Amino acid sequence: MADRDDSFDSARGGFDGARGDSFDKEGIRNVLTVAIVMCLVCSILVAGAAVNLRPAQQLNKEADKRQNILRAAGMLPANAKIDAEGRGVEELFSRFSVRAVDLASGRFVADFDIDGYNQLRAARDPARSRDLSNSEDIATLGRLENVTLIYIIQTDAGIEKLVLPVRGYGLWGTLYGYLALEGDLKTISGLAFYDQKETPGLGGEVDNPKWKAQWVGVQLFDDAGEPAVRLVKTRSASGSEAAAYEVDALSGATLTTRGVENLVRFWAGELGFGPFLDNLKAEAA
Ligand SMILES: Cc1cc2nc3c(=O)[nH]c(=O)nc-3n(C[C@H](O)[C@H](O)[C@H](O)COP(=O)(O)O)c2cc1C
Repeated sequence: MADRDDSFDSARGGFDGARGDSFDKEGIRNVLTVAIVMCLVCSILVAGAAVNLRPAQQLNKEADKRQNILRAAGMLPANAKIDAEGRGVEELFSRFSVRAVDLASGRFVADFDIDGYNQLRAARDPARSRDLSNSEDIATLGRLENVTLIYIIQTDAGIEKLVLPVRGYGLWGTLYGYLALEGDLKTISGLAFYDQKETPGLGGEVDNPKWKAQWVGVQLFDDAGEPAVRLVKTRSASGSEAAAYEVDALSGATLTTRGVENLVRFWAGELGFGPFLDNLKAEAA
């Protein structure tokens, strides 16, 4: 067998026969061809999967957003998909109206394409946002969108819940969440972050249900109508006026703590939802 012309010569890397159709398995051209074909096949598979899964991802993202809004509003317990009366996310969320608000005027924007709007994308577009100066930008946003979406439950008796999207820089990145208010527009129903990059166990404790529970009932504004929430290492005496505005600082995470306090104050202030909340209060009076 050793003298056969077409024997497999592994030392030379392939068949090398008298037929002349030699195939050098390890020849650079063949290796490259196989690698390129594999790359093409894999990229087509990955791109196909990404395109096919996009609708499902969008649905999941929307469902997650709704759960976070409901949790911030105190309408859905932590880690639950139904409330105490067995109502699911869709049913609970259907009570909310989504409205567009012009931040500068604090007025609702009529005839706005809510479904096609993304305020985070708008905040990156100079035509649909404004630059914030250093002194204005206490939440380190860089730019502020002109229009933002809010979530409101309003009945004949007035506003029941108002959920506001908020964001601001912590230590490692921007924290994105929702701040929910009761109908008096100053008592906090809850604060929930749906995206943050802080260290688990330190700044990441912003997601700890025990810490989040402290926000319930805290007053966003003082009697003069100024943003008054404070994250403190030592709480004031229970029942005192100062205690009404206080939440525990996160231990070992001063920078995240400062970021959270600043973002709440920013969005409650003049550049955030201040004018909008003033208008709603004036209408309710
Ligand atoms: C690995 C590592 C991760 C940290 N993560 C955070 C964080 O997520 N948030 C934060 O405020 N500080 C974090 N810190 C601590 C900060 O660097 C800083 O020391 C701290 O905010 C000071 O807080 P303190 O005055 O309460 O000790 C981290 C430190 C280390 C070493």
